[in-house]
Amino acid sequence: MSEIQETLLQSLEAFQSTQLVKNKYENILEHLDSGVILFDSEGVLTFINVQMARLLEISRKSLTGLTLLQILRHPQLSRYKKKKILRIYRETIFHRKRYHELSDETGRQWLLTVTYGDQMDGDFLFSVKDVSDFKQIEQTAYRNDKLAMLGKISASIAHEIRNPLTAIRGFIQLLRPHLTKLGKDEYARIILTEIDRANDIIYEFLNSSKPSAPQTTVIPVSSLLKEVVLLTESEALMNGCEVVLLDESTPLHISVDVKQIKQVILNIIKNAMDAIADQGHEHTGRIEIRTRKDQKNVNICISDNGKGMDHITLSHLFDPFFTTKESGTGLGLSVSYRIIKNHRGYISVDSKVGKGTEFVISLPIVEMS
Ligand SMILES: Nc1ncnc2c1ncn2[C@@H]1O[C@H](COP(=O)(O)OP(=O)(O)O)[C@@H](O)[C@H]1O
Ligand SMILES: [Mg+2]
Repeated sequence: MSEIQETLLQSLEAFQSTQLVKNKYENILEHLDSGVILFDSEGVLTFINVQMARLLEISRKSLTGLTLLQILRHPQLSRYKKKKILRIYRETIFHRKRYHELSDETGRQWLLTVTYGDQMDGDFLFSVKDVSDFKQIEQTAYRNDKLAMLGKISASIAHEIRNPLTAIRGFIQLLRPHLTKLGKDEYARIILTEIDRANDIIYEFLNSSKPSAPQTTVIPVSSLLKEVVLLTESEALMNGCEVVLLDESTPLHISVDVKQIKQVILNIIKNAMDAIADQGHEHTGRIEIRTRKDQKNVNICISDNGKGMDHITLSHLFDPFFTTKESGTGLGLSVSYRIIKNHRGYISVDSKVGKGTEFVISLPIVEMS
């Protein structure tokens, strides 16, 4: 073999092996669970993987070779996606940010990373990955942290208030005979009952905000709900709204701390009434309470036709001290969340601005034999 032939053969082999490696990596890129898209320095799309094409809901074939402008004019590209792409373009190319977080129509969260510059030979590589699960874990951890802090703060405040109250109570009792002599026994009685009431409030609060194990009894959901609705009747009347209990016929039992669960449902109904009141006087308010059974849980659904909530309110709903009300405490839902969690259940929310809100409390069913 001549030297030339040999060199040619060698470079052919080298070419074939780089081609093989290239194919292998392209194959991996194509089937990566992240979306990957590559533009050259002229802004022409040179590579797009399966996942990214799926996200855009356009076939890969019809995208390859197009410029960004042509992609934006693609007839199959939804308006929503077009807006997102423009936004990404502005953030990453214009403002030169390497990372951009975005959410899609279904509320899933994505992290987009851009790589360009010397390491890319003038190409622009965009990759997106689904970070919803991570975000959710992060949020839950943050929320639990805040709740733990709330527990500690409230416990110490309650403790600090309780001590002087006990001292006051003792001294009033010592003063009582003197007050009786002056014909003022009534004063002593009022002071004592008020101190006891304050103590009760502190006790209640500590009980529900502390991560204590609930004192459970087994009870039919329907009787619990009936009692709660009775408690809300007069207030509903005052607010000009009705509370309707639509009960399931089969009796469902749950094992709960009745006082705590009543408090949770009352909190939610109270919020519903506030949301209805904000809709103005002409609005006829209606709060519906329904139970639904699924495999393992009883779902108590409480819906209202109040003012509903925007995105920001929804995302802070269960945060301690988060409130949009002038005289709100922002504790109702954070305490409720903690109580339901202690019962190994969960609360979910669905809301539309101007339409209304539905809270669903899910609690494990107790099978009665
Ligand atoms: N049914 C509802 N409709 C509209 N907004 C609600 C509803 N329930 C709760 N919210 C919002 O959630 C916030 C927090 O509620 P909560 O923890 O009970 O505290 P508070 O009632 O003291 O404000 C409220 O301020 C309100 O903005
Ligand atoms: Mg409230």
